[in-house]
Amino acid sequence: MNKFMAFWRSSVGKKIIMGVSGLFLCTFLAVHCGINLLLFKSDGGQLYNEASEFMSSNIVIRTVEVVLFVGIVAHLFSGVVVWIKNWMSRPVRYSVYRLKDNAPLSSRRPMLTASASLVGFFLVIHLQTFWIPNRFWAEPPESNYDLVAAAFSDPVYGIFYIVALLFLAFHLKHGFQSGFQTLGVSTSKYKWLVDAVAVIFWLVIPLAFAAMPAYFLWFKS
Ligand code: HEM
Repeated sequence: MNKFMAFWRSSVGKKIIMGVSGLFLCTFLAVHCGINLLLFKSDGGQLYNEASEFMSSNIVIRTVEVVLFVGIVAHLFSGVVVWIKNWMSRPVRYSVYRLKDNAPLSSRRPMLTASASLVGFFLVIHLQTFWIPNRFWAEPPESNYDLVAAAFSDPVYGIFYIVALLFLAFHLKHGFQSGFQTLGVSTSKYKWLVDAVAVIFWLVIPLAFAAMPAYFLWFKS
């Protein structure tokens, strides 16, 4: 316990916890996105509902769900603590941000914080719409497909999602760059490879997610 507390107290320890929990959340996003792509299958949501049913009844997946929420809390908590520490130790509040690849971490932080706040807000709305009804309502919704189709047929809700997913892309892009800088990858000869993998997470996956509300808004209604 003492070793963990010493690790947690060090600034690199908190950054490692943030990075590892962030990578774990990215893995979840990739799986979540893969399953949600079934929404595009023109079978009235049959396969999507079967996959959702499997995910919500499988004991291994339910256990991973607990780890997922621990990961979200760890990422959020370490992010807030790092943010407060940096804010308190900065003598002059700057107003100009440089966002080049080699920009110092200090200039990346405001963008990470702003996008993190919107992603956090998005997550609360998202869980309230999709997850809470499934887990806690006495009479859960008929099917996940109907739940998703109904939510995304509302233009306000659908457009909020698309905007929030742009912020998610932004957050992941700066999160990856910041993490790579901490780990020293930004100066390594494999930087191009790591950057290429990061693009899948920060660009391709959020775009695929954003295509879902767009599909229900403009092609299914
Ligand atoms: C835009 C397309 C998305 C759709 C259609 C979608 C759909 C869903 C549905 C139906 C559930 C409930 C699953 C169940 O209880 O059986 C769920 C849960 C969840 N979603 Fe999403 N989601 C989307 C995007 C996202 C994004 C971008 C994130 C994260 C930033 C996210 C994070 C979560 C989390 C943490 C849960 C609860 C854990 C779980 O049940 O797996 N989702 N989502």
